[in-house]
Amino acid sequence: MKATSSRIFLVVNLLLATACLNLFAAETNSPRERLLLDPGWKFHLGNEWGNPIDLAKAGSSTGPAGRSFSDASWRTVDLPHDWAIELPFDQGADGSHGFKPVGPGFAANSVAWYRRTFDLPQSDAGKRLWLEFDGVFRDAEVFVNGWHVGHHESGYSSFRYDITDVANVGGQNVVAVKVDASQFEGWFYEGAGIYRHVWLEKTSPLAIAPDGIFVYSQFKNNVPGKEVEIHIQTRLLNSQTGSARANVRYEIVSPEGKTVASDKDSADLKPWANHDVDSEISFHSPELWSPESPKLYKLITTVESGGQIVDSKETEFGIRTVAFDVDKGFLLNGKPYELKGTCNHQDMAGVGAALPDALQYFRVAKLKEFGDNAYRTSHNPPTPELLEACDRLGMLVMDECRLLGSDEENLRRWEDQIRRDRNHPSVAIWSVCNEESRQSAPDGGRVGATMQRVVKQLDPTRPVTAAESVGDEYTGLMGTLEVRGWNYHVGQDMDNYHKEHPLQPEVGTEQGSTVSTRGIYANDPVRGYVSAYDENAPPWAHTAERWWSYFAERPWLSGGFVWTGFDYRGEPTPYSWPCINSHFGILDTCGFPKDNFWYYQAWWTDKPVLHLLPHWNWPGLEGKNVDVWCYANCQEVELFLNGQSLGRQTMTNDSHLHWSVQYAPGVLSAKGYTDGKVVSETKVETTGDPAAVELTPDRAAVNADGEDASVITVSVTDAQNRVVPVASNMVHFALSGPGKILGVGNGDPSCHEPDTFIPLPQIRSVPVNDGWRWKKVANINTRRLPEARPDFDDSAWDAADVQSGSGPLGEQKQAVFRTKIQVSEQDLAAQAVELRFNMIDDEGSVYVNGRRAGESRDWHSPAILDVKPFLHPGENTIAVAVANWSGPGGVNKGVLLQFAEKPLEPEWQRSVFNGLAQITVQSTRDPGEIKLTASADGLSPATVTIQSRACTPRPFVP
Ligand code: GAL
Repeated sequence: MKATSSRIFLVVNLLLATACLNLFAAETNSPRERLLLDPGWKFHLGNEWGNPIDLAKAGSSTGPAGRSFSDASWRTVDLPHDWAIELPFDQGADGSHGFKPVGPGFAANSVAWYRRTFDLPQSDAGKRLWLEFDGVFRDAEVFVNGWHVGHHESGYSSFRYDITDVANVGGQNVVAVKVDASQFEGWFYEGAGIYRHVWLEKTSPLAIAPDGIFVYSQFKNNVPGKEVEIHIQTRLLNSQTGSARANVRYEIVSPEGKTVASDKDSADLKPWANHDVDSEISFHSPELWSPESPKLYKLITTVESGGQIVDSKETEFGIRTVAFDVDKGFLLNGKPYELKGTCNHQDMAGVGAALPDALQYFRVAKLKEFGDNAYRTSHNPPTPELLEACDRLGMLVMDECRLLGSDEENLRRWEDQIRRDRNHPSVAIWSVCNEESRQSAPDGGRVGATMQRVVKQLDPTRPVTAAESVGDEYTGLMGTLEVRGWNYHVGQDMDNYHKEHPLQPEVGTEQGSTVSTRGIYANDPVRGYVSAYDENAPPWAHTAERWWSYFAERPWLSGGFVWTGFDYRGEPTPYSWPCINSHFGILDTCGFPKDNFWYYQAWWTDKPVLHLLPHWNWPGLEGKNVDVWCYANCQEVELFLNGQSLGRQTMTNDSHLHWSVQYAPGVLSAKGYTDGKVVSETKVETTGDPAAVELTPDRAAVNADGEDASVITVSVTDAQNRVVPVASNMVHFALSGPGKILGVGNGDPSCHEPDTFIPLPQIRSVPVNDGWRWKKVANINTRRLPEARPDFDDSAWDAADVQSGSGPLGEQKQAVFRTKIQVSEQDLAAQAVELRFNMIDDEGSVYVNGRRAGESRDWHSPAILDVKPFLHPGENTIAVAVANWSGPGGVNKGVLLQFAEKPLEPEWQRSVFNGLAQITVQSTRDPGEIKLTASADGLSPATVTIQSRACTPRPFVP
């Protein structure tokens, strides 16, 4: 076991270590720039601004969507970000979504704004500019410089906008995103916010179109031979008023970095049009991709026009074949290959749905440790970075659509998903949906057929299935899709179906699933824990042993996907509150193994496995019988208690062994035998009381790129360094150096402690309601307004009540409102100083000391302006030029000056659950030593140092 897990660990380390430097290396000479737009967003939970879209006039969005809105006092967050994880648990909230008060019934927590300001250099003039979102949960309205550039509802699919026309090249730009998570899409924890990466991509006007490259390999009869054919489809986009000729060059680089094939092609491009170029290259002795040997090739596509390189792009791909056979099941590279898969949702302890890429690699590597070779992205399109991790670490993928649907919108998303994901060698099969209520109906079948047809048009290499929950039925989707998917059916109906439909291959799309809690050995409905013996499964499901022993005997079933690899938030089963997450995982939400991990490892890998359960800390049970189970893949196992043999038993394939043992503290040990020889040994010991905290990072060095992360196991150990399997101590953390804590967790399905501790805002509000005077002024010129000057004499003006519900100004009238305020030097030391007008009716320009500080064109939304640059210590003059079109108008409902001081840093803590907890630490862009200390009352503390190594971060927007 050690050998393989440390090999995976090494591969992850190497991949992450080189990722920093090598990504986009080939693109350095390309005019194409792909910049991460993750760091430094401003975030505000809530929406006090009504509808930001101006339906009357374009480019004039209001509130936070507008250009001059101040977000200076908003919290700064780096993406990916999930605000749902930051909310407290609430028993009144939806349990299947993890009892977080967001979504239906929680309006105040369900809408949020993100804003990001950045400069575009003058050298970007003439380029095409694309804003790309890997995924936002959900219903995103996107604005650029006050223009509404798009609306994307799906919380799972990627989307992009061409923002060239509305970008301010040579100046400042602001992207504002209103995210509305008021509605659910699934029945599991979904997160909330911009929880995946955002990119700014710049290309020449003649360039490879977005997702414009498709590269795939083919062999004769779909069985790898000496020669491979590589098919390349390139879509070029000419965004110019003139036609153009383009030369396209291809270079294929082997996993060892050698150019193994090249080709060229050319095309005449019409103005403002796409053009597809198809090529085919063959070469000998390709290195095949598989989960065991994930060899990746690189396609470098270079486009020239007018004697210049106008684009160059690298595409990773793998050479392999996939197929499903009616008798032999799934075939990889022409040979039967049992799918030992898991279904997974996308959240993790500490971070919710917002996983940095390092955690995608961490999770895929964890799954591989127990022999998992396939991942179903239930029930939605994954983030592209998960697929990259699967390509590089070696994991097959069932890539699933969120919904069944042949309506225009769903088909467009489905097409986008296929175009985005089809170069990934890990993706082996498409799934059109999960357990849809119309799955058996003729209309469901027709819709599925249309979705399958879309796949066939875009991807000739992969089969199509759906996760189907009915039995021996051949209607609807079952009679339509190429591969029959089975959710939770083990038994005669499958054998019958197989006999009746001998031409249709089959796969276990969703199987298992044992419910269990790590380190718990008796059901406890009050605390919401389920025993970790492989005994409990919901009525519709089966234990690990039941489903796997059935599938293992039937090669035509292709293997299957366990529900689930990891526990996930939401769907607590079989108990509800206090449980806040599911119990289906082979691993808990942190990735700590439950005992079933060793069942799968025993039968899904070749490494010698010998595992005993339960732990051996049972004070009070002396002399009573305790069930001891053993997972192993040797022929026989002998069990010992304190050195005395309790008998030797023979193991049956895909099974486990059981002894009833009279408990006595000490050492429970086992020896595994094959052919009469000892091949493995293990022991569980009764530990002493908690004595110390220990910190064990999964990676002791990270890249100083502001993205990389180390996952650190926190354990509570006894005086002999043994993890105390019943410990529950509260551990406090302190971090110094160039890093930050992303989150904490402990895998306890009933723990209501926070996973994140967010900085506490320090905002002081001072009313500015006194001393206001006003006067009507005809034909205000907002550029030259003498009434805004500090020395203007307003003593003869009328006093104004700016707190009243409506103003003194009549229809079609204009006026200036003025007051004076005092600010001190200390006030101005605040991080941000904002002036907040609760109402400027209908619209107005705001001046501070005679200088224009901003404007408001939306009477029902508060106007918040950044005034710090205009203020000085002492007396300051505020003037507002108001134009009122209908009804009464003016400056109303109160004015505030808001001083935002540096937020207070929170203190992080988490209790261990059955001895373990987890803390995830992320690098900044500064190299150095990140020092993490963990302490707990009465225990010796621990300190771990993570090296954050200097590297070139991937290009980002500053
Ligand atoms: C399945 C469903 C999954 C999950 C699971 C719980 O029917 O596809 O999403 O809800 O049940 O057992």
